Amino acid sequence: MEKVNQIIQKWNTDPDFVIEMMQDIQDEFRCIPREALEEVTLKTKVPLARLYHIVTFYKSFSLTPRGKYEIQVCIGTACHVKGAPLILDSFTRELAIQIGETTSDGLFSLEGVRCLGCCSLAPVITIGDNLYGDVKVADVPKLLAKYKEGNNE
Ligand code: FES
Repeated sequence: MEKVNQIIQKWNTDPDFVIEMMQDIQDEFRCIPREALEEVTLKTKVPLARLYHIVTFYKSFSLTPRGKYEIQVCIGTACHVKGAPLILDSFTRELAIQIGETTSDGLFSLEGVRCLGCCSLAPVITIGDNLYGDVKVADVPKLLAKYKEGNNE
């Protein structure tokens, strides 16, 4: 809870910055723990129901822990035409999880997203902060291995 209080203090306990507080909490814990929401409510006086509304409205927040590396597979039109469904299938097979789930080792989460804004590179994925274009099904196991080994810098 100490870390949560540091985050709340960083934003001067100002209720106008609860979204920013929750972004920091999400980054710190890879989810928004219920105890953290209760602490934000206590300190900012923003009702708990309002915080839950925010957390469930924005896709970047999660009430359950996300993986260290979030994989986003673009399933927008351009990527779909260039084989995104096969890429997505490959990730679900390799990781043994479905969209919206996290691997049991906490390393990867998988999401399907609509257009990452770089359609000329289709099919496009992101893993953490890195973007990959012209991805082939055969690239999927190699990319995952790279992250598992920590060679992703
Ligand atoms: S549709 Fe995939 S980047 Fe635009």
